[in-house]
Amino acid sequence: MKHLVSIDNLADDEIHQILTLAESFDQVLDRPVKKIPLLKNRTVALVFAEPSTRTRVSFELAAKRLSADTITMTGTGSSLVKGESLEDTALTLKQLFMDCLVLRHSEEGAAERVASLNLFPVINAGDGKHEHPTQALLDAYTMVKYTGGVSGKRIAVIGDVKHSRVAGSNVKLFRRMGATVYFVAPPYFLPQTLPDGVQLIEDIDTAMGECDILYFLRIQKERLSGEEKVDFNGFREKYALTADRLEKLPGHCYIMHPGPVNRGVELDGEAVLHPRSLINLQVRSGVAVRMAILAFIMHGGVHSLEVSY
Ligand code: NCD
Repeated sequence: MKHLVSIDNLADDEIHQILTLAESFDQVLDRPVKKIPLLKNRTVALVFAEPSTRTRVSFELAAKRLSADTITMTGTGSSLVKGESLEDTALTLKQLFMDCLVLRHSEEGAAERVASLNLFPVINAGDGKHEHPTQALLDAYTMVKYTGGVSGKRIAVIGDVKHSRVAGSNVKLFRRMGATVYFVAPPYFLPQTLPDGVQLIEDIDTAMGECDILYFLRIQKERLSGEEKVDFNGFREKYALTADRLEKLPGHCYIMHPGPVNRGVELDGEAVLHPRSLINLQVRSGVAVRMAILAFIMHGGVHSLEVSY
């Protein structure tokens, strides 16, 4: 049984297959009839025990575009709040004929725990500050589609790297696809040890001169332990994409952010709709890429797929 808990679960050729498949699904989404019957009679459970807009809606839409049925559970509306364990919730969903579980949870390792039961394929939609592999795949896809590729790119990951599961998956994927990754963050937002091959850049002004992609992260206030003494003014001075800086954005730089954006903190509102911003295109890519992931995980590989309906 194939799970997607971490980017490490995918071989290079599988990453390539998912991105290629996403391209076909992207074309399906441009058609007047946006649905194909690939996952007809299958049911996807979307369990989101933590807040989500983009990831939840795009997964639900992706499943529906593939003709699967969906069941959505949120943290507050499920027995998880009554003290039911995640394992028991998963067993229950198995008895209720679910064929796949998409899980977002605040604990690192939650998706792995459920995946190890091998009840159905599990797709990690974010576990604590560990990983968010489907975000990494949609970001890579966006870069391939709109910037010409990931290989050879210099990518600055800026802001609260320490608490970011997006950084956890994206750094792995970007490096595997041939990019050079830099962190641009104050010491209190850096992990204790830098991942292999990742270098530091002092501030955003230097990153704007040296990098092709400025990938911003939200300050994950809900994950701050209280030990980090966040100096919001100092942070803005050295690491935020302010309206002033945006005016000096070099022509080779693209702006990315997984959302949700905290306008006025890591970037100013003007940056979201700037011509060099890919932020809304990242959201759009989410549906096609998650269709590809569901098809890949639930349909046993791309070799057996017919997408030209
Ligand atoms: C991220 C998440 O939830 O991990 N958002 C997302 O899925 N698009 C990033 C964040 O919450 O800042």
